[in-house]
Amino acid sequence: MARFLLMIPGPSIVDPETLLDMAKPTLSHVSAEFDQIHRETLTALKKVFGTDGDVVVIPGSGTAAIELAVRTSIKVGEKVLVLKAGYFADYLTDAARRLGAEVTVVQSPTGRGFGSEEVEKLLKEGGYSAVLLQHVETSTSVANHVKDVARKAKEFGAKVVVDGIASIGGMEMKMDEWGVDVCLTGSQKALAVPPGLAIVAYRKGFTPLTENETLYFNISKLMKEMESTRNYYITPAVNMVYALNTSLKKILGEGLEARYRRHEVLARAVQKGIEALGIKLVAEEPFRAHTVTAAYLPDGVEWAKFYSEMKARGVEIAGGLGELRGKIFRVGHMGEATANDVVATLASLERSLAKLGYKVELGSAVRAAQEVLHSYGM
Ligand SMILES: Cc1ncc(COP(=O)(O)O)c(C=O)c1O
Repeated sequence: MARFLLMIPGPSIVDPETLLDMAKPTLSHVSAEFDQIHRETLTALKKVFGTDGDVVVIPGSGTAAIELAVRTSIKVGEKVLVLKAGYFADYLTDAARRLGAEVTVVQSPTGRGFGSEEVEKLLKEGGYSAVLLQHVETSTSVANHVKDVARKAKEFGAKVVVDGIASIGGMEMKMDEWGVDVCLTGSQKALAVPPGLAIVAYRKGFTPLTENETLYFNISKLMKEMESTRNYYITPAVNMVYALNTSLKKILGEGLEARYRRHEVLARAVQKGIEALGIKLVAEEPFRAHTVTAAYLPDGVEWAKFYSEMKARGVEIAGGLGELRGKIFRVGHMGEATANDVVATLASLERSLAKLGYKVELGSAVRAAQEVLHSYGM
């Protein structure tokens, strides 16, 4: 397969070392050797989530993690608040409604997210016992201020459930310190592992609810399996766990702070680069994510053509979802993405837009990004 740059907001680029790890012989899921790898993986995940509580890893996409998280934190009939900053909030709403919770959805204006101010007013009026939100809303590249929202929610005695699918591994999460009760993610984004693992973390001191267990989402049995894979309940995705283990070693080797900093700088470079072309970003300050950037397609630029021109230049980017389909494009810059990847993406963006007749000063996006990268010594 020809070399190409995968710059979509997940799945993200996977390092060959991580990929090759998956080619190791599949161990018995109940062997001592695999149990050790599994244990190590959970310990490393706790560091990334910022919790001394429990972490559960099961085969599944991010949506499975959403379902498990909601089933183990929300009661039937409970009055909950979903903070919607885009398309993926509907997944939280759907999961909670299917469970029989009384769900109120509050939507932010496109490009804006939620912080303590927005949430305080809602909590004062609402009498909600839980707040559910995305850390990064991938469809708009909005980052909600989870730390502030959680602090406010705690003042009102509300539980906090966070979808960190597009943030964990790329943006800071300190569940225990911030008071995030449940946080979930998938393997395929800033953790830089192929798609296939659903991960749910519980804050230290938070006991997952067991009353909504189903065959697959049986938290009591899953927790036992997490203590030791010898307590078999469902077969772990053995080779995927190898990959996650290897990637987590890289993540902790890079250092969480350094990793979050890299994500922040790459995000700024992409934002400045796109803006230098006169293109409007979807997310506004202070709600811009560090893992993905969404921008409006310039007038006269059709998404399908733009996508093809980018692809012809070896760069894969993503389009809009839901009501933003055909109106925006999205660039992922998470996990293994480097400064050079960002520069190459912006260079391809310039040439693709120029080819489509959009007035571009070639080099302007690249220059703006280079200035950001250089100013941070990258
Ligand atoms: C924030 C967020 N939530 C939920 C999902 C759904 O996850 P999955 O497609 O892995 O089931 C995604 C996928 O991109 C996402 O970015």
